[in-house]
Amino acid sequence: MALVNENYLKLQSSYLFSEVARRVREYEATKPPRKIIRLGIGDVTEPLPAACVEAMARAVAELGRRETFRGYGPEQGYAFLREAIAEHDFKAHGCDIEADEIFVSDGAKCDTGNFQELLAADAKIAVPDPVYPVYVDTNVMAGRTGAAEDGRYAGLRYLESNKENGFVPEPPRGERFDAVYLCFPNNPTGATATRAQLAAWVEWARDCGALILFDAAYEAFIRNEAIPHSIYEIEGAREVAVEFRSFSKTAGFTGTRCAFTVVPKNCMARTAAGEAVALHGLWNRRHTTKFNGVSYPVQRAAEAVYSPEGQAQCRALIDGYLANAKAIRAKLESLGHACVGGENSPYVWAQAGEPSWDAFDRLLRGHQIVTTPGAGFGRCGEGYIRFSAFNSPETVAEAMARL
Ligand code: MLT
Repeated sequence: MALVNENYLKLQSSYLFSEVARRVREYEATKPPRKIIRLGIGDVTEPLPAACVEAMARAVAELGRRETFRGYGPEQGYAFLREAIAEHDFKAHGCDIEADEIFVSDGAKCDTGNFQELLAADAKIAVPDPVYPVYVDTNVMAGRTGAAEDGRYAGLRYLESNKENGFVPEPPRGERFDAVYLCFPNNPTGATATRAQLAAWVEWARDCGALILFDAAYEAFIRNEAIPHSIYEIEGAREVAVEFRSFSKTAGFTGTRCAFTVVPKNCMARTAAGEAVALHGLWNRRHTTKFNGVSYPVQRAAEAVYSPEGQAQCRALIDGYLANAKAIRAKLESLGHACVGGENSPYVWAQAGEPSWDAFDRLLRGHQIVTTPGAGFGRCGEGYIRFSAFNSPETVAEAMARL
């Protein structure tokens, strides 16, 4: 028998969303009295923007003709998409990001999970709590932690996000880490970080030589103009931050698969001997070795997000989900549950008034509504429940009427 990577044995037996799906399947088998409404995993429900569908169809037709057929594309993404991203998502917002600093991929989950491969096996990592489980589990797989005890892995530094700090942890002054994961608008809490809060993180990272792994998968939900969409809106971030973005929630691409990671050329890490190394070159090496690019039709569909029609259609799509989020939050607050999120975010994070998994089971079995238990995102999530606004307005209205 082959030797296994025993770090995998430290992991909780199932990934949070698989456990939620298992419980829902088990309940479904009992023939519930009415349709189950899914406000659990943040999976989009509304059709792709027409501009994306048309662009994808045109690209598929091109692949069907000898004269326009294409085989492998550039692993980093086609120039047409990287240039559109650099122009619209960064330069238009005053961020100094070039097309060749953008790596197109098939998902921010994969990229946030894979990026840790570039760090030393004994790199010190900080994560928020509650946290998107991918950041934690991939570091466990890589052997950067000890065993889990009481829901936390030895060797990871958990940054508590709670009511007291408005679910935005402060930089751990006086402590040194190699990397910290930040996610704003946050998954799971829906909290957003102000410019001053992000500036404090960048200043801390520059002071202590840490890398910020900034997950901005939900930036398209920001409607408050004072809230930054990108870490690169903060001066000095280029040298210390990598940013992950996705078309999944921005344009309904969860099934279509397209995302990108920004690695500025002057974002540096160091060898044990203290020699500076550019992460751009390392990520490029990894990406070209392990990934063969996103399909041409999908990249054309993603490019169409930046056309005037695409922009209007995506905005309308997100406006719909934001209206759902507002309705969910209003209903929960009217029932006496304190909430965060639901503004500038598709997630509403509500105080349950009971343990998270009890609330999950009660909502599932009593109201036929699927949510995500806060405790599944970390110790600080206990007592909370996450509602996702990804559904049709009619379905969300029905779910709220059931409460
Ligand atoms: C979530 O529900 O947290 C998201 O769907 C996770 C993801 O995007 O992978």
